[in-house]
Amino acid sequence: KTGVNSRIEEKRRAALLGGGQARIDAQHKRGKLTARERILLLLDPDSFDEYDMFVEHRCSDFGMDSNKNKYPGDSVVTGRGRINGRLAYVFSQDFTVFGGSLSGAHAQKICKVMDQAAMVGAPVIGLNDSGGARIQEGVESLAGYADIFLRNVLCSGVVPQISLIMGPCAGGAVYSPALTDFTFMVKDTSYLFITGPDVVKSVTNEDVTQEQLGGAKTHTAVSGVAHRAFENDIDALLNLREFFNYLPLSNRDPAPVCECHDPSDRLVPELDTVVPVESTKAYDMLDIIHSIADEREFFEIMPSYARNIVVGFARMNGRTVGIVGNQPKVMSFCFVLRRQYRCLDINSSVKGARFVRFCDAFNIPLITFVDVPGFLPGTAQEYGGIIRHGAKLLFAFAEATVPKITIITRKAYGGAYDVMSSKHLRGDANYAWPTAEVAVMGAKGAVQIIFRGKEANAEAEYVDKFANPFPAAMRGFVDDIIQPSTTRVRICRDLDVLASKTQSSPWKKHANIPL
Ligand code: COA
Repeated sequence: KTGVNSRIEEKRRAALLGGGQARIDAQHKRGKLTARERILLLLDPDSFDEYDMFVEHRCSDFGMDSNKNKYPGDSVVTGRGRINGRLAYVFSQDFTVFGGSLSGAHAQKICKVMDQAAMVGAPVIGLNDSGGARIQEGVESLAGYADIFLRNVLCSGVVPQISLIMGPCAGGAVYSPALTDFTFMVKDTSYLFITGPDVVKSVTNEDVTQEQLGGAKTHTAVSGVAHRAFENDIDALLNLREFFNYLPLSNRDPAPVCECHDPSDRLVPELDTVVPVESTKAYDMLDIIHSIADEREFFEIMPSYARNIVVGFARMNGRTVGIVGNQPKVMSFCFVLRRQYRCLDINSSVKGARFVRFCDAFNIPLITFVDVPGFLPGTAQEYGGIIRHGAKLLFAFAEATVPKITIITRKAYGGAYDVMSSKHLRGDANYAWPTAEVAVMGAKGAVQIIFRGKEANAEAEYVDKFANPFPAAMRGFVDDIIQPSTTRVRICRDLDVLASKTQSSPWKKHANIPL
């Protein structure tokens, strides 16, 4: 008996040490925490229950069956714990054991926590730091990836899945984060790519560094693969804790309601003058979002990508909401016309659509601020498939059955008016500010087309007729024209009422969103 106990102790001690002190020191030297240190920072104190500490890899080739090549727990730490008291399942890849590479056993450990998370209804958080497939294991390791991918897909829309990339993540490994709802990265120490710089050089002859190819900047500003980047491991894990507070545990769970010290009937007087009198002048949609949100807090998603649309989470009277807003401050550039437009384009449509679908899948109400003159013109956008991509945003808003509140702050022109959570797409509460203009297009363009510029007074007549909220309000396409300062009050009241909203769509196996 004492023999067994001492073996248990010995194995536990070995598991806690991962790949050994030298490799732990090397990890620290790179500015990275170990897999276990990360879990401790992420979860509430004393809340981590570890699974599978005694699991070992099963490979016997290349001398892997020798005792010195066996590490209890193998190259990933898994289990469950609490974040501010709420349940989360976690896996944290251990770079000190075979570079965190994925063996069959490693994959099996991850699958176990994913299966249980789906069953009990709690999010899965993956902390990725891995050299990819365990080279010694060959197809066993590839099978392990596929087993994880399948679970990522089956869990999609069931429990939130979050990936935090804290080291290398290359080759097949990238597809698991890509399938999850949110991918965050740590600046300077993490990278994601299909093939590394050496392979890129041999295939396309491009000289590129790891950082340029797949670093945090690349993926948060250029490719849109990652949703946020943080300064270091600690910053990333603390932000992840904060982010977690916004999320429901599963699609069966309402989003958490926090205690709110910001009065729901708070007026926001500065909003009455936030939209400039000149309709071509810019303002910052983030100012509006901050001013109406509880405590001015807004967790922005993809703040550096497709900045002409803003998406993220906030709370209204303690309740989590997803906010989508056109950003008049950021122009999209049309290379052909060499002009800038405040428009929706391919990237902003896709960014918005994915966010809206996440919110809808997890019962998070949507608040949409509209100020957009249309979709970006030009061959670059048309050849890139703006029709197909713009349709994604339209599709996402139309299929969403969560409470939908829309505020038109200024322009709602053309197809973009329809797309941005309009009444026609089952908007529940649609408001216009007095500065709203709901029309097919701007006055100048409209007059040019209908009168070929020959009618002297036509532009003024057009402005008088359409460049205001009345045509939409008279038809009931907006429910009310509201004073901007009352926006927070109205939204909070609507959310109270809409909390019991139920709405369904015709039976289907699944929809076919244009991809
Ligand atoms: N399979 C097995 N062991 C691996 C591994 C893998 N895929 N990737 C790394 N390791 C091991 C290394 O042998 C090394 O072992 P050691 O501590 O006993 O010396 C340890 O992990 C650390 O790797 P190292 O190369 O020293 O670290 P690094 O920081 O210099 O480089 C990588 C990290 C990920 C860039 C590099 O290890 C690498 O290119 N790995 C292979 C990636 C790959 O092609 N994977 C398969 C595609 S999915």
